[in-house]
Amino acid sequence: MRNFNYSTPTQIFFGKDQINVLSEQIRIFGGSRVLLVYGGGSIKRIGLYDKVLEILKTNDLSLFELGGIDPNPRIESVRQGIKICRDNNLDFVLAVGGGSSIDCAKLIAAGFYYESDPWNLMIGKAKCEKTLPLGSILTLSATGSEMDNFSVISNLEAHQKIGLGNAVLVPKFSILDPTYTYSVPKKQTAAGTADIMSHTIENYFTVVKGAYLQSRLAEGILKTCIQYAPIALEDPENYEARANLMWSSSLAINGLLSYGKERNWSCHPMEHELSAYYDITHGEGLAILTPYWMEYVLNDATVEQFKDYGINVWGLKPNEDPYIIAQQAITKTREFFVSLGLPSTLRDVNIGEENLKVMAKAATKKGTIGEFRPLTTEDVYNIYKSAL
Ligand code: NZQ
Ligand code: ZN
Repeated sequence: MRNFNYSTPTQIFFGKDQINVLSEQIRIFGGSRVLLVYGGGSIKRIGLYDKVLEILKTNDLSLFELGGIDPNPRIESVRQGIKICRDNNLDFVLAVGGGSSIDCAKLIAAGFYYESDPWNLMIGKAKCEKTLPLGSILTLSATGSEMDNFSVISNLEAHQKIGLGNAVLVPKFSILDPTYTYSVPKKQTAAGTADIMSHTIENYFTVVKGAYLQSRLAEGILKTCIQYAPIALEDPENYEARANLMWSSSLAINGLLSYGKERNWSCHPMEHELSAYYDITHGEGLAILTPYWMEYVLNDATVEQFKDYGINVWGLKPNEDPYIIAQQAITKTREFFVSLGLPSTLRDVNIGEENLKVMAKAATKKGTIGEFRPLTTEDVYNIYKSAL
C-alpha cells in the first residue's frame, strides 16, 4: 500500500428531511447572498426548488439564480455564474442537482477569485487558489461530485471535456436525501449506476500490492450497485435502494477506495473524449467502454485480479484456469449493464468510425493513460474500434 494523507472534509447530511440544516450550514460558512445553481428544471418538478426558496427566504438569505445547466456542463455557464456573483457581491454558491450542476458550481466558486477566463483553470494555465464557499443538495446518484474535489467542464466548441482536481473544490457540505432521487428516470438511474461502478472499477484494478482493505471495500460497493440498481429501476421510490446507491456514489470517489493506490484512471479519459465529441451521457459511455477495456487489458499480469473480481463480486465458482473466470466476469459485467437498459456499443449511441483516431490522440495527449495497464494512443484506438 502506498503512503497517503486521508482527508474528506465535506460534511454529509444523509437521509430524509436533512434539508432542514440548509440555512444553518450556509450561515456557518459565512453565506448570506447565495447563488443557486441548477439544471433544466427537474428540481422544480419535484418541489425541491420551492422548498429551497422558502428556506432561504424564511432565514433572510438573499437568492440569485443560475438555472439551465446542461448535462456535460459548459464553460459558458461558468462564465455566466461568475458574472452574477461579481455583479451582486455574492458570498455563497449552492448547487442543487446532479453532477453537472455541482461541477459547474465548483468552477464558478473558484473562478470568482480568478481575474481571467475560468477555462484557463481547466487547461492548467492557472491554478485554483481559493473559492467561494460551496454547498450541494444532491438529486442524482452518480458522479460523487458531492464529496470529491473534481469539476468536469466541457468546451464543446474546442471539443474538449476536462476534469480538474484540486482540494479547494471540495464542497463544504452536501445534503443527501435519497427521496430526491425517486424521480430520476430509468436512463439516468442506469447511467448513474454505471458511473459509480466505473469509479469503483478504476480504483479496484491496481498495480499496487497489499491494498487489501481498499479492494474489499470496492467489492462491497460493486455488489451494492448490482443488488440495488435493478430494484431502483423496478421500484423508483424504494428508499433502501435509492439510499444505498446514493451513499455508494459518494464513497466510490471520495478517496476511500483510492487512497494508498495509484490514481491514474483508464476508462474515464477515454469516455471524456466521447462526451466532448458527441455530448453523450457519461455513464452510458462508460458502460460501453468498460467491458472492452477489460478484455483489452486482460493478460498474464492482470488475470489474477480479474479472478478476484469474478469470484468476489460476481460470485463465480473458483476454477483452475483463471482466464475462464476472468472472461465470465467480463461477460457478466456487460450483461449487467445491458440488463439495466444501457447501450453496449458505440454505434448504439450513434458514434461511428469518423473520429476514433482523433479522440484516441486527444485522450493520450499528455502520454499514456492508466497505470493498471498503461494505454498508448494506439491502444485507445484499438479499444474504441473494438467497441464499435
Ligand atoms: O437538468 P435537470 O433538469 O436537473 O435534469 C437532469 C439531467 O437531465 C436529470 N436529473 C437529475 N436529478 C434528477 C433528474 N431528473 C429527475 N429527477 C431528479 N432528481 O438527470 C440528467 C443528468 O444530470 P447530470 O447532472 O448531468 O448527471 P450526472 O450527475 O451524471 O453528471 C454528469 C456530469 O458529471 C461529470 C460527467 O462527466 C458529466 O459531465 N462527472 C463528474 C465527476 C466529478 N465531479 O467527480 C466525475 C465523473 O466521473 C464525471 O466525469
Ligand atoms: Zn465518472
